Amino acid sequence: MTASPLLEFIAREHPAFVHVPLGLVAALPLAMLASFSRKNAKMLVATSFFIAILGWLGSTVALFSGLIWGRQINLIAPSAYLPVVANEKQVLQRILQIHIMAAFAGFLVGGLCVFLLWRIWRRDYRQLPEGMEHRHHAGRRFWERGVGAPALLLSVIWLGSWGFSGKLGGIMVFGNEETNKAAAEAEKAKRNDAEAELPIRALDYASLEPAENAPARSKAHGDRWRRVWVSASGIDAYKAGKALPPGAYAVMSTFTDEKGKPSTEPGPLYMKETKADGTTAFAFYWGRVPTDLQKEFGNQDSVYWRSPDPKLATCLGCHEKGGASK
Ligand code: HEC
Repeated sequence: MTASPLLEFIAREHPAFVHVPLGLVAALPLAMLASFSRKNAKMLVATSFFIAILGWLGSTVALFSGLIWGRQINLIAPSAYLPVVANEKQVLQRILQIHIMAAFAGFLVGGLCVFLLWRIWRRDYRQLPEGMEHRHHAGRRFWERGVGAPALLLSVIWLGSWGFSGKLGGIMVFGNEETNKAAAEAEKAKRNDAEAELPIRALDYASLEPAENAPARSKAHGDRWRRVWVSASGIDAYKAGKALPPGAYAVMSTFTDEKGKPSTEPGPLYMKETKADGTTAFAFYWGRVPTDLQKEFGNQDSVYWRSPDPKLATCLGCHEKGGASK
């Protein structure tokens, strides 16, 4: 997302913004409770209404900034409103989902509360001369005085939803045991996966057994010139036209074509591996995509795709049919 500096600011300051409506809504039940007293009820009902509408309107900024922030840090897809929780390891996404739903529930309850307050203020107090509250209260049951019990109850639910949402927000910003553990595990998995950033083995293809002595044209791989290199444990199988044994892999280095001959311009590296469990994995690496081809590669100047990246579906399409590795 290419955001304007203003949007950027609104998004990043989400944890600060939310305190304004939250503070107002925390004060709201107190003002509402005070309106039950026989003194100053008119002023306290008006004050409650004022606090509530400020808190409610202020929360729209908080909701909006939270959404933009979530999209900017890729927790929420560009046109979505909630994060997708793909598996139970995605602790952050799960917490964010509940955080958003609690915030939105509070927003709806808050809207209702504002509406009730407005009605009560208009109906019972707007025209009332100052200081006439006890007259007004006379003969009313306790829960009908001031803002009335239903509105008070709503304000407490409103505060509860936002308090809960805020607690989860704090966990997401500062971490708790569960999120910290998940982050540590992701970090460890990445450290154990030496090829997470670069296809180290494929880049070292020249240390493998050359399966071909000279470049040959490969229609199947962008009509580039190719040379295939196979790990020592797989070269015999490869030459015999059999599937590679578990642990073995083949790398295809490529050159772009120049008037029917291989040019010195390096093309992408293709890799195919038989994993220890017998499944096939692919990798595609092009460290420097030429400018005129970048639109075919999602406008990236460098690509590195690995199974199970869906962009490698085309490889599977051919290779599963026994189209390769002879
Ligand atoms: C149009 C079909 C087709 C597609 C798509 C395709 N391949 Fe291939 N691949 C082949 C064929 C056929 C060969 C045999 C050599 C040749 O013809 O170049 C091969 C060979 C290879 C080899 C050399 C080892 C071997 O098995 O022969 C590698 C590595 C490889 N492909 C990786 C990939 C990757 C990675 C992708 C996806 C980015 C891919 N291929 C897409 C058809 C395809």
